[in-house]
Amino acid sequence: MVTLNNGVEIPQLGFGVFQVPVDEAQQATLSALEVGYRHIDTAQSYRNEKQVGLAVVESGLPRSEVFVTSKLGNGFHAPTDARWAFERTLGELGFDYLDLFLIDWPADEVADFVETWQVFEELLASCAVRAIGVSNFQPQHLERLLAATDVIPAVNQIEVHPYFTQDALREQNRANGIATEAWSPIAQGKVLGDETIGAIAARHGKTPAQVTLRWHIQRGDIVFPKSTTPARVAENFDLFDFELSDDDVTAITALNRDDRTGPNPDTMNMVPDRQRELRP
Ligand SMILES: NC(=O)c1ccc[n+]([C@@H]2O[C@H](COP(=O)([O-])OP(=O)(O)OC[C@H]3O[C@@H](n4cnc5c(N)ncnc54)[C@H](OP(=O)(O)O)[C@@H]3O)[C@@H](O)[C@H]2O)c1
Repeated sequence: MVTLNNGVEIPQLGFGVFQVPVDEAQQATLSALEVGYRHIDTAQSYRNEKQVGLAVVESGLPRSEVFVTSKLGNGFHAPTDARWAFERTLGELGFDYLDLFLIDWPADEVADFVETWQVFEELLASCAVRAIGVSNFQPQHLERLLAATDVIPAVNQIEVHPYFTQDALREQNRANGIATEAWSPIAQGKVLGDETIGAIAARHGKTPAQVTLRWHIQRGDIVFPKSTTPARVAENFDLFDFELSDDDVTAITALNRDDRTGPNPDTMNMVPDRQRELRP
């Protein structure tokens, strides 16, 4: 568990459902819950919140035992839309509260994200959500938000993996009491053929994915690898019977080449048409 800046606890290892097709999302989430995951990361733009909620019910687990995150779509940053879109998320999930709600991208095509954040603060005060945070915020976005608002984000969810270690932004998060969540933690598979990671994995009798995820865990970040392959879902959860040495962690961190897998938040200002279509 990681304790967030408002005292809420989040499981450090979760399951991500980006690009999990709607017709597979319920079963994939259920399988993850059966393996032992207690933290699911979804978003309005993934279009599978409903299936995540159904899986939580089907698992038979008490709602309070599963930590669920969702994220506001870029098309819904205007304050009235943000309120409506949050209610829609709760309805899709079938929940009466959400654990963590994030501004998905610092997009300002529709509204200033500071205004959006003020709605997030209201949602937090109303206890409809247990913690609020941001995603893909670069240093300048964080500085502007922190200067303009009262509640410090609990997390900043950003792309982090051995080829994009993000140490300056992670340090900025840490210095402000913001937990780092590392998305695409195995770079969508790109780091798994790396020689250094392979050699460390062989030494520990683990797979490259397990070593990479363990590296994130030992750096203190929160991760939620995605897989729709049952054996990999189990493999990615089996991280707690070995420990990387300081030298291993240093060697993996040294693989950084500032190589992004996903979009650059400085230029990503997209409001997909399919999000506009959802607006009432
Ligand atoms: N906030 C944001 O903007 C943002 C952006 C991207 C992602 N995210 C979040 O982060 C989560 C994870 O990121 P991601 O889905 O982009 O990438 P990822 O978890 O780094 O990688 C997923 C890919 O790796 C494969 N894989 C998973 N485990 C493996 C293993 N043990 N061995 C070999 N291959 C493996 C999966 O294939 P199979 O499924 O075929 O097994 C899939 O193709 C997302 O699901 C989402 O929740 C957030």
